[in-house]
Amino acid sequence: MIKIGILGSGKGSNCRAILQSIRDGRLRAKVAVVISDVLDAPILEIAREFGVPNAYLPPGHFRTRLEPKVEAQLVAMLQNAEVQIVVLAGFMRVLKEQMLAAFPRRIVNIHPSLLPKFPGLEAWKQALAANEKWTGVTVHYVDEQIDHGDVIAQRKVPVMSDDTAESLHARIQEVEHVLYPEALEQVFAQLRAA
Ligand code: GRF
Repeated sequence: MIKIGILGSGKGSNCRAILQSIRDGRLRAKVAVVISDVLDAPILEIAREFGVPNAYLPPGHFRTRLEPKVEAQLVAMLQNAEVQIVVLAGFMRVLKEQMLAAFPRRIVNIHPSLLPKFPGLEAWKQALAANEKWTGVTVHYVDEQIDHGDVIAQRKVPVMSDDTAESLHARIQEVEHVLYPEALEQVFAQLRAA
């Protein structure tokens, strides 16, 4: 069974969708550990609800990345849990060389836009501000640039004329919860075949 580690900083709705897909047998993998840089992040509560080992990793004093010694600790935690694929689910820090070297083409992210359009924060607000008729969701491998890297799967989401940021974000998240497990199954199938 492929072992994955999930990293997140917030709500954890994608983590829940992945855990539920595994429980339902739609996704064949085992979540070895869920790790968060935020002590009271709901994603840790979700891990506990599903009986998955989980940990809070104090991030250190940088705002957008982990302190190098903490990133080394993260690598060790994932390796100790025998994680093969690292799944980012709302993890709000940029991973640097140590993680990229330890998990080359083995870190996957989901982003709420059709990349390369609208990388960065609150991509659905960027799509609204740009008057887009369509936006979407991208699952991609993580590289050294933010919200960049080879695309694994994308799905379009319509922008309605009366959308608010909240309504559009909710529509995007519904698609995320379907697309992420599907895209991960594709990644796992490749790994099994390798
Ligand atoms: C998702 O919208 C994802 O695209 C972005 O962060 C958000 C995480 O949401 N990378 P959740 O914590 O999974 O609910």
